[in-house]
Amino acid sequence: MASSTVRPKTQDRSQEHDVARRLLDSAAKLAYDPATEVDWETPLDKDFHGASPEWSTLYGTAYWNEMTEEQRKELTRQEAASVASTGIWFEMILQQMVLRDIYAKDPTDPEFQWALTEIAEECRHSIMFARGAAKLEAPHYRPHRLAFELGRAFKTLAFGEVAYAAILVAEEVLDVMQRDWMRDERVVPFVRTINNIHVVEESRHMKFARDETRKRLAGAGFLRRRINALVIAIASYVIVTSMVNRKVYARAGLDEKRAVREARANEHHKAMMRSSCSGLMEFLASAGLLTKPALVFYKRANLI
Ligand SMILES: [Fe+2]
Ligand SMILES: [Fe+2]
Repeated sequence: MASSTVRPKTQDRSQEHDVARRLLDSAAKLAYDPATEVDWETPLDKDFHGASPEWSTLYGTAYWNEMTEEQRKELTRQEAASVASTGIWFEMILQQMVLRDIYAKDPTDPEFQWALTEIAEECRHSIMFARGAAKLEAPHYRPHRLAFELGRAFKTLAFGEVAYAAILVAEEVLDVMQRDWMRDERVVPFVRTINNIHVVEESRHMKFARDETRKRLAGAGFLRRRINALVIAIASYVIVTSMVNRKVYARAGLDEKRAVREARANEHHKAMMRSSCSGLMEFLASAGLLTKPALVFYKRANLI
């Protein structure tokens, strides 16, 4: 009896070590220093977009058709900068959650060392995004006040599967956009490099977040699972709806109110979000996190 309960645990433990060790090996082989990898010197060439135009919140609207090519390029540059600013906001939340999670854990464990490696990567990402937004001539795009304060509470209180599933959602949503932008020759080269670095390093983080989410959920009872599924969905809604700040429109010389109205009704953009998040939704479904109340928020955020 004793051996049958001990053995699976030991196996689990070594599997966890395996994942963390593989991630540490990967980081040792392929990691970037954005300070030297990104071309910070060449002045911004305004002939380029900041993101693939198809990802613009206004692409496909009547307003988009009225805009000049210069305005479209300015808009996608400001949208890319806003996404980067939201990325910094979320990476700051993430770093604090992961740091709290490993407090008091065994430093000789590969998981502990991997967690610190991930934090180090996120720290470099945030500096890279900050420099990128500055180079795109963007102001400080802050999330809405309520989102900002909810983030403050979340980074202090979230733990277990709530923390790791929210991390996963934010990383996956960024990932799908950035995969398109890094390959797009219409996008300004330094932004493509930034996206390339982020996509490569985040693939490790997403693997870890998926594993941690599954692991933490394994021990969760029915009620905890139901409550946390909803908290994760609300967190996802706040993150996703904070991606593009409404101030980007005025910055591109547009009427803010009209732009916000048309962006909110933009079926093309909603379809882009839904189709790119199908893999993420499959994972959340397989983890039992797509409960009915949670689905309300994923639908409102156009993730499903
Ligand atoms: Fe990152
Ligand atoms: Fe990450």
